[in-house]
Amino acid sequence: MTPEIQSQKSRALCERAPVIPVLVVPDAARAEGLATALVAGGLPVLEITLRTPAALDAIRQMARVNGGHVGAGTVLTPDDAKRARDAGASFAVSPGATERLVMACSDIGLPLLPGAVTASEVMRAMEMGYSMLKFFPAEAAGGAKALKSLAGPLPQVSFCPTGGVTPANAPDYLGLPNVVCVGGSWIAPDAEVAAGDWAAIEARAREASGLH
Ligand code: 3PG
Repeated sequence: MTPEIQSQKSRALCERAPVIPVLVVPDAARAEGLATALVAGGLPVLEITLRTPAALDAIRQMARVNGGHVGAGTVLTPDDAKRARDAGASFAVSPGATERLVMACSDIGLPLLPGAVTASEVMRAMEMGYSMLKFFPAEAAGGAKALKSLAGPLPQVSFCPTGGVTPANAPDYLGLPNVVCVGGSWIAPDAEVAAGDWAAIEARAREASGLH
């Protein structure tokens, strides 16, 4: 799958909701309930970070939830990409972009949403064929102001800013012409995931799904 087609697929996923919850799942037993709550709250596209030993199992469980689109986050290597695809991930998100990772995702047909921040990184991703990127770490890298500045010379690229995004600053990003959606971990706080407080998470998802 070429990077151009990967980007089309990533863009279509990003257009499904204003927010992609970024999830750190410590226990796969919590995965299905968590995904069900988020999808019910109006956030069908989920990023499960490969930062816990349970992540791949969690992806496996969540991929079964009706209406959900489950991707793997923190995909750094070709091996990460393969393991994520084998677990049922339908897309991958990376904080950056390397040749090896891009080639691996093309080879195995896994849409990649690669990260870029500077004009040179964005241009490099464009040369590889990507037009839908993650802007990470969004707030630390200059926030909505920085992203707005990139829209001038590089209007053909769209972004999903992630990193430090909150309900308060999300509208600043979502109002930009080069932002399709934002990513953030605030929707599913660790304590509520651990407690299985799906009602609270569903309510927060519903609020997030109304952001614009
Ligand atoms: C991440 O990869 O950790 C995401 O960017 C989430 O960032 P956040 O916790 O600041 O929302």
